[in-house]
Amino acid sequence: MKKIFAFAALAAMILACSPKSRVDALMAQMTLEEKIGQLNQLVGPELTGTEASQNVEEKIRSGAVGSILNIKGAENVRAVQKIAVEESRLGIPIVFGLDVIHGYETAFPIPLAMACSWDMEAIERASRIAAEEASVSGIAWTFTPMCDIARDPRWGRIAEGAGEDPYLGAAVAAAQVRGFQRDLSDSTCIAACVKHFALYGGAQAGRDYYTVDMSRQQMFNEYMLPYQAAVDAGALTAMSSFNEFESVPLTFHKYLLTDVLRGRYGFEGMLVTDYTAIKECIAHGAAADLKEGAIKAINAGVDMDMVDESFNKHLAEAVKEGKVSVKTIDQACRRVLELKEKLGLFDDPYRFCREEQAAELLQSDKYVSDARSVADECIVLLKNEGSVLPLKEGARIAVIGPLGDLSKEMLGCWHVMPKYHEQISVYQGLVDRFGADKVKYAFGSHVFDDQKVESKLALDKNVLRRDKSDEALLAEALSVARSSDVIVATLGELARMSGEGCSRSDITIPAPQRELLKALAKTGKPIVLVTLAGRPLVLDWEDENIPAIVTAWHLGAEAGNAVADVLSGDVNPSGRLTVSFPRSVGQIPIHYNHKNSGRPRGDYAPFQRYTSCYCDVVNAPLYHFGHGLSYSEIEYSDLELSADSLSRAQLPLKVKVKLTNKSGRDAVEVAQLYIHDRFASITRPVKELKGFQRVAVGAGQSVELEFELDKDSFSFYDYSLEKVLEAGDFEIMAGASADDRVLLKKNFRIVE
Ligand code: NOJ
Repeated sequence: MKKIFAFAALAAMILACSPKSRVDALMAQMTLEEKIGQLNQLVGPELTGTEASQNVEEKIRSGAVGSILNIKGAENVRAVQKIAVEESRLGIPIVFGLDVIHGYETAFPIPLAMACSWDMEAIERASRIAAEEASVSGIAWTFTPMCDIARDPRWGRIAEGAGEDPYLGAAVAAAQVRGFQRDLSDSTCIAACVKHFALYGGAQAGRDYYTVDMSRQQMFNEYMLPYQAAVDAGALTAMSSFNEFESVPLTFHKYLLTDVLRGRYGFEGMLVTDYTAIKECIAHGAAADLKEGAIKAINAGVDMDMVDESFNKHLAEAVKEGKVSVKTIDQACRRVLELKEKLGLFDDPYRFCREEQAAELLQSDKYVSDARSVADECIVLLKNEGSVLPLKEGARIAVIGPLGDLSKEMLGCWHVMPKYHEQISVYQGLVDRFGADKVKYAFGSHVFDDQKVESKLALDKNVLRRDKSDEALLAEALSVARSSDVIVATLGELARMSGEGCSRSDITIPAPQRELLKALAKTGKPIVLVTLAGRPLVLDWEDENIPAIVTAWHLGAEAGNAVADVLSGDVNPSGRLTVSFPRSVGQIPIHYNHKNSGRPRGDYAPFQRYTSCYCDVVNAPLYHFGHGLSYSEIEYSDLELSADSLSRAQLPLKVKVKLTNKSGRDAVEVAQLYIHDRFASITRPVKELKGFQRVAVGAGQSVELEFELDKDSFSFYDYSLEKVLEAGDFEIMAGASADDRVLLKKNFRIVE
C-alpha cells in the first residue's frame, strides 16, 4: 500500500513536469544503485538465447531492472510491470523488448526476401503491421532493423538483413524504422533498434560471431550507410554487435560506439549490448572478468547490459574505485529514462498492454492479405527457359521435395510469435489454386544427410520422414513424378539452417535433395525448381540442368499462396536479388560492388594466367545483384543525361531512361541506376547503386523514368575518412541488374 502511494506521488510529480524535467526530477530522487539498476536488461522465461535471469521479481522490487526481453503476451507483461510500478521504491516502469523481426504473429517474409521486393512502401507496411500487433501485446521495443551488410551467404544471418548493398540497405533500414516508430504519440508505435553496430555481417569465412576486420575506408564507404540511415530516420535505440573490429570487441569499441555512432552520426538514443556480450568479451580475450567487462563497456558508450547484469554486479564498486564516473552512470540512466519517457511509459506504464485489442487483433485475419501481397513481391524468378512458367491450366502438377509441405519451416529464422497453424505450404497453396485432383505431393528425400544435425535444426523433427529410407522416398517421388505433366521441386533449407548461429560451409542444396533433383531430371518431365531457403544457394548444376528456377526464400504465413500466385501467373514476378548468387563457394565473398585490380578480367572472360581470375570458374556470379525475370519482356533504351559534364555547384545530374514492355502482359520492373567513379584519390568500386524505381509498365506500354544524382551520390569517404566530392570521370549506368551485359552506359564528368 505504502509503495502504491509512493508511485502515485511520483506519478503526480512527474505529470506536473515537462518531459525533460520529469526525467531530471526522477533522477534527483534516485540512488546510485537505482540508477545502475536501470542499466540492466533481464531475460524473461521464454528464451531465445542461452541464459535465464534469476530472481527477477525480487530484482524488480529492489529497482535493479530497467528492461526485460522475451516476455510474451500483454497479460504476462502487465503482471511484471505491476511489480515494477507498485512494488519498487520509485515505481519506474520497465521497457519490454522482443525480436519482432519479420512480423509479430502475422509472419512476413524474412528480411532478405522483403528487401528483394525493392518496395519500400511494402517494407514499411510490414513493419507497421508488426508494430501494431506487438504494441498491443506489451512490447514497447523491437530489436529491428538489422542493418548489417552481408556479402557472405555462408553467414546464416544474411537472412535477417537487406543484402549486400549499402544504398539499398539504407533505404530498407529507414523504411523499417518509419514503420515501427512513425509517430510515438500513437500507442501503436514502438521503439526501433539499429543493430548490430557495427560491421557484424563482415565475419570472416561467414562464421557467426567471428572476427571482422577491414580498413576504415571500406567500413565507411561500404558498410556504414544503413546504420546511419536508421539513425537519421530517428531510431530510438541501438545495439552493439558481438564481433570484434580492429581487435576490439564492439561491446568495448569506444571509437565506433561513441565517436562514430554518437559523434559522427548524431545518435542520441539508448545503446544496449547484444545478448551476454559483456561476458563474452572474456572469451574474446578482451576482459579478464565480468567486472572489467562492465567497466570497459560502460566507458565505451554502452548504456544497457543485455542479460549479464554485469552493471548491477560491478558498477557501484567501480564508481567507488574511480574506474567509472558518476557522470557516465547518470548519462546512461538518463538515456534509459528518456526512452521510457518518449514511449509514454511514465504517462501510462500499461500503455502497451491492451489485452482486449490484442485478443481481437491477433485472432483476426486482418493482415493475412498484406502478408500475401508482400510475399508475392519477394519471389525472384531466376530462370525460365522454354517458358515452363507460368504453369499451364489443367496440367497435372507433382510437388516433390521435403520443403514442399513443411509449412512451419516457411516462417524462416527469427520468428518468435508464430501462428503455426496458419502457415500455408507450397503444396497447399498449389492445391488451393489448381485443385486437389491436379496436384500431388511426395516428400522425396531427407532434408540433410546428417540426421543428428537435421533433427537439431528442424522445428518439428517428427515430420522429417526418418521412418523411411532415401530409396523408399525416391521411389514414391518417381511414381508421383511419372504421373504428372510438370514437376515443382521444392528444395532448400529448414528455417533454422539460416539465422543466428547457423552458418554453412557448403551452400548448395543439401546432398539428399540434390540427388533427388538429379533423379527427377532423368524422368524428362519439365521441372520448376522452387528453392526455399534463408540465403542464396549455389545453384550451378541446377542452372545447367533445370529449365525454370524460382527463389522463394522463407516467405512466412502466406508462403504457399504467394508461390502459387507466381507459378500460376496470377502475379507477374517482380522480385530482384539484393545479393549475388555465387557459382561456387570459392568465389565468396562475391558482391557486385567490388574493386578492380591492376589486372582486371571481365566477368565472363575465360581464364588467362596473370590476370585477376580463377582457372576453374569465371568471375561473374551465377545470378547478379539486381537480377530477376518476369513473364514480360522489358527493354531499356534512350539513356540520357542532362549534361555531359557539370561542376559540383551545378549538380544534380538528371538521368532519363525509357522502359518498354514488349509483351502482352502487365509488369512491374525495378529499374536500377549505377555509377562508376573511374579515377579517384582512393580506388572506387566498379559499380555502385545510386537509385532505383519500382514501376508498373503496362503491356505494350513505355514509361520514361527520371533519376537525380546529387552531390551525395558522387561523394565518398577519402583516405582521411572525410566525405569528399572529387572532380573526375564517371560512368552512369541504367538497367535491369548489375550485370554489365544488360546495362546502358554513358560517360559523365564533374569539372572543377
Ligand atoms: C542476439 C542477437 O544477435 C540479436 O539480434 C537479438 O536482438 C538478441 N539476441 C536478443 O534476442
